Amino acid sequence: ARPRVFISRRIPEEGRALLAATCDSVAGVDGILCLLTDTINGELLDAAGPNLKVVSTLSVGYDHIDVKECARRNVKVGYTPGILTAAVAELTSVLLSPGIRAVENGEWGTWKPMWLCGPGLDGATVGIVGFGRIGVTVGRYLKPFGVASFLYHDSFQKPVEASELGAEYASFDELLAKSDFVVACCALTDETRNLFNASAFKKMKNNAVFVNTSRGGIVNQNDLITALQSGQIGAAGLDVTTPEPLPTDSPLLKLDNCIVLPHIASATHKTRAAMAVLAANNLLAGLRGDRLPQEVES
Ligand code: GLV
Ligand code: GLV
Repeated sequence: ARPRVFISRRIPEEGRALLAATCDSVAGVDGILCLLTDTINGELLDAAGPNLKVVSTLSVGYDHIDVKECARRNVKVGYTPGILTAAVAELTSVLLSPGIRAVENGEWGTWKPMWLCGPGLDGATVGIVGFGRIGVTVGRYLKPFGVASFLYHDSFQKPVEASELGAEYASFDELLAKSDFVVACCALTDETRNLFNASAFKKMKNNAVFVNTSRGGIVNQNDLITALQSGQIGAAGLDVTTPEPLPTDSPLLKLDNCIVLPHIASATHKTRAAMAVLAANNLLAGLRGDRLPQEVES
């Protein structure tokens, strides 16, 4: 019999076609292809029932999946690392120059020598929190702009990855204190939840730019708003928020020194198609009982 799988949202055709060729798409189900907006917890797994063999998420982040509950039920978990690294690193680099709402708000009176100035990359210190595939690639993209030094912070030191950039390991506090740009590329875990809070923003330079393309949950967003309003930090570029979508009356959207994008870092046609194919292949391998091409270790 053709296995039954559930695809939680419209995904690029390349991935859907791969599944349609061998599976019937109804709930009840042997496999689930989900998005980062779907909470996969014990309750959902119970509802799916004992046939469920695999959950495949169309994302590199899997903080929305209770991996322990999946493991307890022998449900494999697939994700899509690697293929989106370039797209996410590219957008992360762009967010270093937070767009300003001055033009649309009618504040562009005339050319003013000191208006809306921020740090430049030439000669700057860039601090990368979460030095995985994406964090390293961000560093690689920024290096040609004349960055003077890279600092990184992660749960352990990564000398091999650091050597190409000449990046130095720093404690979280030291990285905050020394960096002109603080770039968050870490996964959302119990250790990183609310990591960027009032106390962290206080340790940053007053003109520092904070960039987050990982998950909104690593930031205490109210503390960030206060830090931006009070001039504790210079500016922020965000591709992720709490909640998502961000309500249009959020104070973040009133700030001149902040840009918010709607979680689109991996949104290139090529990247999303590759993610869909990888997520489909993870799902199909799980249905066959094989090891997934990209399997989350529990
Ligand atoms: C996007 O946020 C992803 O995790 O792939
Ligand atoms: C995610 O792909 C990371 O390891 O940075």
